[in-house]
Amino acid sequence: MLGKFITLEGIEGSGKSTNLEVIKAILDKNKIDYVLTREPGGGPLGPLLRELLLDKDQSISPSVEMLLMMADRKDHVDNLINPNLDKGIWVISDRYLDSTIAYQGGGRQLDVKLIDSLSIELKLPTPDLTLLFDLPVDVALQRAEKRSELDRFEREPKDFHSRIRDSYLELASSNNRIKTIDSSEDIGIVTKQVEKHLTEFLDA
Ligand code: TYD
Repeated sequence: MLGKFITLEGIEGSGKSTNLEVIKAILDKNKIDYVLTREPGGGPLGPLLRELLLDKDQSISPSVEMLLMMADRKDHVDNLINPNLDKGIWVISDRYLDSTIAYQGGGRQLDVKLIDSLSIELKLPTPDLTLLFDLPVDVALQRAEKRSELDRFEREPKDFHSRIRDSYLELASSNNRIKTIDSSEDIGIVTKQVEKHLTEFLDA
């Protein structure tokens, strides 16, 4: 049987990574074999592409940025995601295709049709479940600023991040696989929402 493919999405500072621990604990409890990975950077070419894409001193046009994200993803899908799913191992990825739709489509205002048709041509698999960590942009950016030095995306103005949030919410409203988690709540309440969605998914 194929492994399940779960992705985590959200704007900067939305708490995706913090909740990975909760997800790991649930999968371990259910004795599920899984790998954790992330984008950009999950495939063999990943470290190089990731460094380039996040470097605050690089000037990259929106369409080149989108193509680099897609190249990184194809490398990731072919070398890590599909081989594991084929072996029945679950794949949990911190960001995936919805990030390109939200960041390059919404944020950079590129045509989403182009991203959609590329993903079809490249035969990118669709996740079985996506957890979208959502919270107001102001709160998220304050959280992100408290972390390390800001990367190329985190330095963008508030408008950019608001467009990304709107795109994510639009995607969630038309895709049943995307479960929105209110990430502005206290950590305990966020954890409960993650547990609820994951348990429902496991029981389905
Ligand atoms: P990362 O340090 O992994 O940030 P985060 O903890 O927020 O996931 O940086 C990844 C950055 O790349 C993040 O700002 C989102 C951006 N990104 C895109 O713009 N498009 C994409 O397709 C992906 C996968 C990421």
